[in-house]
Amino acid sequence: MNEKRIALVTGANKGIGFEVARMLGREGMTVLVGARSEERGEKAAAELTGDGLDARFVRLDVTDDETIEAAAKWIETEFGRLDVLVNNAGIAPAEASVSPSELAVAALRMTYETNVFGVVAVTNAMLPLLRRADAARIVNVSSELGSITLLSDPDGVYYPFNLLAYNSSKTALNGITLSYAKELADTGIKVNAANPGYTATDLNAHTGFQTVEQGAGFVVPLALLPEDGPSGGFFTGTEPLPW
Ligand SMILES: NC(=O)c1ccc[n+]([C@@H]2O[C@H](COP(=O)([O-])OP(=O)(O)OC[C@H]3O[C@@H](n4cnc5c(N)ncnc54)[C@H](OP(=O)(O)O)[C@@H]3O)[C@@H](O)[C@H]2O)c1
Repeated sequence: MNEKRIALVTGANKGIGFEVARMLGREGMTVLVGARSEERGEKAAAELTGDGLDARFVRLDVTDDETIEAAAKWIETEFGRLDVLVNNAGIAPAEASVSPSELAVAALRMTYETNVFGVVAVTNAMLPLLRRADAARIVNVSSELGSITLLSDPDGVYYPFNLLAYNSSKTALNGITLSYAKELADTGIKVNAANPGYTATDLNAHTGFQTVEQGAGFVVPLALLPEDGPSGGFFTGTEPLPW
């Protein structure tokens, strides 16, 4: 068996996912750069290998079962297992960033296809490989905008951000995180939701006030949790967030 830990990051061709891939590579892992575009994914993987990291592109559109199954088969053939899965791919489409009363169900469905259903599809496809690792970690990249506690506080900074589609997709993702953590409690696999914080990326037209290094820095600790680390929680780095 390959001694290096193997990490798959979805949506790793840019933004927070790319930086998470870089950081896991620096931890000595073989990083599988999941991307739906071969061109963008190959370019990202090449940048990481150019920095001396062990990175491989794997085509993975989280809304496309065929690519998910093909990716799982390829990982099985190449490595026989998976140590870390970071479900990072996410969208906040403009057509879904409207008032609840103006939201078309199609835009809501589109958001959920990636942010919610995609996570379940990828996780279920990768779980047989994760079960073969000694102490696998699953990190679901969520958002503080998925926290009903924070969103419902009229005095809080999150209150005005009433994005039904995006916010509720991350609330659903938090619930999904807990469900997997409960099912996998008797295994060595830990499952947590990570909030990277408001980070300048294409997702928000670079309005975020954190750098991608800072955002990714709040995700990576959950991929590196020790045996006595938590499972089934929601964190900014290692700082717990309310559901
Ligand atoms: N930025 C923030 O302030 C912030 C805050 C909290 C949480 N987050 C979360 O952090 C994660 C990363 O977002 P980001 O800010 O880094 O955004 P980003 O720069 O727009 O990156 C999103 C990544 O997801 C990929 N992606 C989208 N749909 C996909 C699909 N169907 N299959 C595979 N990959 C897909 C994109 O690939 P393409 O290049 O092909 O589009 C891209 O690589 C998301 O889950 C987001 O919700 C971000």
